[in-house]
Amino acid sequence: MEQAILNALSPEYPWRDRVHYLPEVDSTNDRLKILAAQGAPHGTAVITDHQTGGHGRRGRSFLSPPGVGIYLSMLLRPECPPADLMHLTCAVGVAMCDAIEKAAGFRPGIKWTNDLVSDRRKLGGILTELRLDKNGNVDYAIIGIGINCNQTQFPQELDMATSLRIEAGRPADVNAIAAALLLELSRMRREFLSRKSDWIAAFSQNCLTVGKDIQILRAGTVRQAKATGIGPDAELLVEYPDGTSGSVSSGEVSVRGLYGYV
Ligand code: BTN
Repeated sequence: MEQAILNALSPEYPWRDRVHYLPEVDSTNDRLKILAAQGAPHGTAVITDHQTGGHGRRGRSFLSPPGVGIYLSMLLRPECPPADLMHLTCAVGVAMCDAIEKAAGFRPGIKWTNDLVSDRRKLGGILTELRLDKNGNVDYAIIGIGINCNQTQFPQELDMATSLRIEAGRPADVNAIAAALLLELSRMRREFLSRKSDWIAAFSQNCLTVGKDIQILRAGTVRQAKATGIGPDAELLVEYPDGTSGSVSSGEVSVRGLYGYV
């Protein structure tokens, strides 16, 4: 896989010598944290064929069987306060959509804030993890990406999952998609701080949550709302049934019509 990814990688890609391929690893995010602590430079990426302990947000596991998915993490060292990275996950989502469109021929949607979706089912996810330095600035950000590529079926408990192969009706070229993803991430890194509002606008266009009835799940409570847009820091703008409005920047949102919420 490693050589095939490097062969598929555009000459424009700036961090070719920073791609670490491992046939198997517990979690690419966790491995990259170790490399980051050892001083790995900006743009270092870890890619594997198989994760034995892949995880997502809220400690959930991310099923990562061998040979059928993309499991990739990239290290960024932007020199900024963490508040400047509020839209990072959204920008990564847009970069994923661009890469999949270019390499697999169709464009998925995004469920706010970190799920890639096709046909109302989950195609992949993003796990962004930050470490701050002693001054409260960003030491590093790790963006972890999982994409279901060539699965033809999923365990029953993952009936809300889908794959590129199921959606496109043909096998997905994992190496070409991984190479396209690396390139789009490097482009995103170049622009996402200076062109923040463009990335938010692109996210907004791809975001399937906007315009939908949603449930906001926070601290054991469930609140109904309608998602009306994406705010300047990538927060979800909502309107409540009593006519008041607000925004959601953390917590969990389920979307009517997605993943079995009807
Ligand atoms: C989610 O669905 O909540 C996010 C899933 C993110 C999974 C990716 S796979 C590569 C990287 N390594 C991990 O352990 N997680 C991310």
